[in-house]
Amino acid sequence: MTQPKILVARAVFPDVLVQLAQHFEVTSNQADERWTPDQLIDKLQGQQGVLTTGSERIDAALLGACPDLKICANMAVGYNNFDLPAMTAAGVIATNTPDVLTETTADFGFALLMATARRITEAEHFLRAGLWSNWRYDMFAGADIHGATLGILGMGRIGQGIAKRGAHGFGMKVIYHNRSQLDAATEAQCKACFVSKDELLKSADHLVLVLPYSAASHHAIGAPELAQMKPTATLINIARGGIVDDVALAAALRNQVIAAAGLDVFEGEPRVHPDLLALSNVVLTPHIASATLPTRRAMANLAANNLIGYLINQQPLTPLNDPVPFV
Ligand code: DGY
Repeated sequence: MTQPKILVARAVFPDVLVQLAQHFEVTSNQADERWTPDQLIDKLQGQQGVLTTGSERIDAALLGACPDLKICANMAVGYNNFDLPAMTAAGVIATNTPDVLTETTADFGFALLMATARRITEAEHFLRAGLWSNWRYDMFAGADIHGATLGILGMGRIGQGIAKRGAHGFGMKVIYHNRSQLDAATEAQCKACFVSKDELLKSADHLVLVLPYSAASHHAIGAPELAQMKPTATLINIARGGIVDDVALAAALRNQVIAAAGLDVFEGEPRVHPDLLALSNVVLTPHIASATLPTRRAMANLAANNLIGYLINQQPLTPLNDPVPFV
């Protein structure tokens, strides 16, 4: 019996390829070459499934050029690289990797908050540069985390994880804004209080962004929003580039409109705007919020099991389409 063909578009754990090879004829990109959209289309000819990361754009043009494609399994919880309506219209299943990365990503959001508030990378650069000659009363004096007001924009699973860390671990007052208010039991678990976006901006000492990227959330934080924040506030983005207007943020950091920022995601990444690179009051990391070995392994396994689940058993585990198209 001939096996379905799948493409693994980026390097993955070798044993995941071994697992996939038990079910499929696998073409993989273990060299992790960066393919242009045309090269991706070329590689997808004759393939029924593809394991993508957030870097591969799946849109109507690609779908039209790849008629054999039946499923795209993203190794990420975010899926703004997918044109979901176009995939549903083409009868192509889209899947992501929810839940398996929630706690790891919440850990990282909190780590980035702490590094930013306490100026950890700035202080380390100073020390490594041999500039530490004496103790000084205000040397790298930052902002307190315990007892401060933690603001969260986007209160899904990861936002709730960050809220719990702040409220239960650090005695923070937690406020949040979301498309819809959480039920009372979840709010109580997170010790979180729903507020308007304006109130969130005005009151947060540390504001963490965890909302999905969409046309509606593009530049949700720009110059007008930054101007509403406290001059002592920090802004943390672990969601997606494009939710923050990076040029406006760099100007706000330069002009002390807010105190500091911690960014794991950027507009047009892996490029980072030079205005941000020039500033010392911003902690910059290369989109690693979910990057622990156990979590990346769980993400890869779930993406692989979505391919097996659908192409072998007609049952994807975590489909995104609404309705799920069955071909
Ligand atoms: C996700 O899962 O969406 C992350 O941003 C990718 O690491």
